[in-house]
Amino acid sequence: MKREFRAPTPPMGWNSWNTFYDQIDEGLVRATADAMVEQGLRDAGYEYLIVDDCWALKERDTRGNLAPDPAKFPGGMAALADYVHARGLKLGLYACCGVRTCAGYPGSFEHEFEDAAQFARWGVDYLKYDNCYRPESIPSQALYRRMRMALDCSGREIALAACQWGTEDVHRWIRSTGAVSYRSTVDIQDSWASIERIALSQIENQCYAGPGCYNDMDMLVVGMNGRGVNPETCVGGCTPEEYRTHFALWAMLGAPLILGCDLRALDEETRALLTNPHLIAIDQDPACRSCQRISVYANPDAFVLAKPLWDGSCALGFFNFSDVAANVTLNFWELGLPAASGWGLSFVDCFSGEALGVKREFFAPTVPAHGGRVYRCAPARP
Ligand code: GLA
Repeated sequence: MKREFRAPTPPMGWNSWNTFYDQIDEGLVRATADAMVEQGLRDAGYEYLIVDDCWALKERDTRGNLAPDPAKFPGGMAALADYVHARGLKLGLYACCGVRTCAGYPGSFEHEFEDAAQFARWGVDYLKYDNCYRPESIPSQALYRRMRMALDCSGREIALAACQWGTEDVHRWIRSTGAVSYRSTVDIQDSWASIERIALSQIENQCYAGPGCYNDMDMLVVGMNGRGVNPETCVGGCTPEEYRTHFALWAMLGAPLILGCDLRALDEETRALLTNPHLIAIDQDPACRSCQRISVYANPDAFVLAKPLWDGSCALGFFNFSDVAANVTLNFWELGLPAASGWGLSFVDCFSGEALGVKREFFAPTVPAHGGRVYRCAPARP
């Protein structure tokens, strides 16, 4: 059977973990599905609605199957999937390759084929597959491969999103398992320090990014503003500038865009950021080329990322991770465009949509502390 290419661009959606932790139920998931439609998120490209850990009963049922907690999901998972599908969205669920999930619910180890068949019967479209409580004698790549096989045998197209935290050199082998993405970092927190740490670690990993299997830098914290009940994630919050930089970085680095804030209570600024068509187009660029940090001589805290795009243009991100405003300079010869060529670059500001005209030789925007400026650029005659 010829299959469709599972993830031609990085997956986009929402996940319950960052904000809601174990306090999830079908009312929340349904209201989030409605919000994704009403707020224009679905139309902007967000399609997966992912129920993370803590959805199941603490033990398997008498037939050995995973069962949703009836206090949280009284209507069951199939009805929930129907609700989500009726709104043009897809349902994601969480499971784990070990004997327990990270929060202590039943894991899928040695139950992979029954669980995959169960997910298929319910109408699940995406499986986030975690790495806790795994028998030490079995390398995790064997277990990711096993779940991919189980999903292939389930009779339903279900994307496998590996959650492996960047351990065991996962970038070297994950593509061979058939996963559409792999968590390449530790868990994110709602703080600038966490965003900075994850982004810097992944800039070095960009050579492993590419179509079909994406470096997952974890769910976005944009819009959380310090709110939520997850004690691990909710550590204070970020400024609007920092959230803009965070979204711009995930887009430049081609990461899955999986939202983590409460979508039922989006303010207009957050909604506009999460649906920014220019930044989403960079993340979802059909060529899926990785970006490169190019201003090698500059201050290590103030640098430029460049990402070639499918139509011959490129995305340029000017980032300032320091605590004071800085001019972040790009000399166009570093991009391969010497002044003697007679060519310049046209600039469109991806935050405002404004066309800034053609620049020659260099560009050096002033970028605030923890800020980012992103432009779509193309070679042009001045
Ligand atoms: C791990 C993952 C998180 C989340 C929790 C659930 O920590 O990295 O993203 O899924 O497990 O317990």
